Amino acid sequence: GRANGTPAAGPERERGRVPPSRASVAVITEPGEWRRTLDAARNAGRTVGVVPTMGSLHAGHLSLIRLAAAQRDLVAVTDYVNPLQFAPSEDLAAYPRDLESDCALAEEVGAHLVFAPTPAQMWPPAGRPATTVTVSGLGDRLEGASRPGHFVGVATVVTKLLCLAGACRAYFGEKDWQQLAIVRRLVTDLSLPTEIVACPTVRDRDGLALSSRNAHLSAAERAAAPTLYWALLAGRRSVEGGEEDPEAVRAAMAGVIGGEPRLIVDYVEVADPEALAAPARVAGELRLLAAARLGRTRLIDNISAVSPHRGPAGVGP
Ligand code: PAF
Repeated sequence: GRANGTPAAGPERERGRVPPSRASVAVITEPGEWRRTLDAARNAGRTVGVVPTMGSLHAGHLSLIRLAAAQRDLVAVTDYVNPLQFAPSEDLAAYPRDLESDCALAEEVGAHLVFAPTPAQMWPPAGRPATTVTVSGLGDRLEGASRPGHFVGVATVVTKLLCLAGACRAYFGEKDWQQLAIVRRLVTDLSLPTEIVACPTVRDRDGLALSSRNAHLSAAERAAAPTLYWALLAGRRSVEGGEEDPEAVRAAMAGVIGGEPRLIVDYVEVADPEALAAPARVAGELRLLAAARLGRTRLIDNISAVSPHRGPAGVGP
């Protein structure tokens, strides 16, 4: 059947009896089985790629899976809505879940396995760990300040997933830039055998970054949503034009968001790309990050910006 543990390359499939629209990607729910499956693949000389997701797969996720499939012999997608990264005020219960459709989409773009445990399987017996992972500093700013506890939840589950996965390449989207920076840091700090691959943000034609949250936008909100990206572009123009005052770059971005009454700015920031600290002077390679509320939905986005002024460690032109 679909999404119930059927091997991806069974004899029926090879004879072409299973219609291509029916997912036959292998679904694993037991952490121990997932670990043994990836170990066996490596022992057989196959390289492994892991794409961590919370399901609700959209074209952004599919671009990660496609890249993994182009680079690795065995591609495993994790599909786990992680309760630890939701605050009590955020609606965990309403988070969309559709394992069957996720499996069909993942298989179509080259995934072989989907790891979809329940919280009780992830953290037996109570469904919550006593051990957590905190990435200090990096995890406290920006999204961390707006969503206390969020990155502890992310870092804890990613650490567990990567420990289970073993040596692999793991693919993360640049859309969640701070998450990517945090994952890189925890992999380095804890010496996990993981090579992190960053994948560019996928955007709709009007510039809106793809996100599972976009599904919650009304038509009017959807029309207003790309303003967040336009604000980042205004920030980039300011940086590229040689602006040296970070406050002026932030003001350029906030001004664009302010022009769209439906968007309520949460933060706009110019930061160094790794530690995400705000520089005293705009120079070198930077990341522009913004978050805003649009009705009941919170949107985040980020882009790069390169200043014509040389950075402190000689970074930049
Ligand atoms: O980016 C996400 O979907 C989640 O934060 C992740 C990395 C899968 C951890 O739950």
